[in-house]
Amino acid sequence: MAGAIRKAVFPVAGLGTRFLPATRALPKELLPIIDRPLIDYAIAEARAAGIETMIFVTGLDSNASQLRSHLNLPADRMAALAGKSAELGRAMAAADLPPGAAQFVTQEEPLGLGHAVWCARELVGDEPFAVLLPDDLMDCDPSAIAQLVAVFEETGGGVVAVEDVPKEDTQRYGVIDPGAVEGRRVEVRGLVEKPRPEDAPSTLSVIGRYVLPPEIFDELARFERGAGGEIQLTDAMAKLIGVTPFHGLRTVGRRFDCGSKAGFIAAQIGFALKDTEIRDDVLRQMETELRV
Ligand code: UTP
Repeated sequence: MAGAIRKAVFPVAGLGTRFLPATRALPKELLPIIDRPLIDYAIAEARAAGIETMIFVTGLDSNASQLRSHLNLPADRMAALAGKSAELGRAMAAADLPPGAAQFVTQEEPLGLGHAVWCARELVGDEPFAVLLPDDLMDCDPSAIAQLVAVFEETGGGVVAVEDVPKEDTQRYGVIDPGAVEGRRVEVRGLVEKPRPEDAPSTLSVIGRYVLPPEIFDELARFERGAGGEIQLTDAMAKLIGVTPFHGLRTVGRRFDCGSKAGFIAAQIGFALKDTEIRDDVLRQMETELRV
């Protein structure tokens, strides 16, 4: 199925400082939830929305080469692993992308999420596109990005996934100034990056899923530094409000913030308890741990 959005950008060039030392040489996006790396969940989500081209914005270092080898496994290694059992073969095939579907671009310096997205401009070209941050793990059906694409098909412009966060957490997010509400869709009247709780226009915060118009690249190209001295995607999106339609969508389903330690563990528990093969064992272990 060819949908309205054909390309997805995965910015994976961050330093992953909250997971050091695990991320000294391993990209955060290869950390697994049970037996699948975060990046695989995000790719599956994009494919479920009919997206065909996956653009990975990687750093310069060893993280990038590890991601590339994961996504484009050499044929001999693939054959050796998949040959061991039919089940392994299926698991390996599920993680594999069709030839040419994965494209890579380098962000030479981690100057911020907005800069990472800007690095993908040539590969995206002049068309609307999706952005997925794999460390936000979305457990949704239909897939979270498919829900955003469905809204985009009605409204055009920009669509971002939003979620209410505790007031004291607004300084970790881009927060929207909400306008008209229609079901789960909220008009975005304004956007502020990492406001202090007392300055936040609401608690409705942008989480790691976006559908963006190509005009965003013109705004990002100004290289304006925002919160934390970084080139922020939120600031560029804010400039498009009033120029193109802009909506937030409270997606149906759950989000695990796997960029934080507690969220990462919550995802492990949540996915383990959904897995019939390990659920009972895990529950027993948890009961034991609670008694210790
Ligand atoms: P985060 O804010 O989670 O930063 O980035 P991080 O470096 O990954 O992790 P911490 O905070 O140091 O632990 C949000 C997303 O933007 C990407 C990250 O890879 C992640 O997907 N990103 C961030 C880039 O690709 N480049 C950047 O310069 C900054």
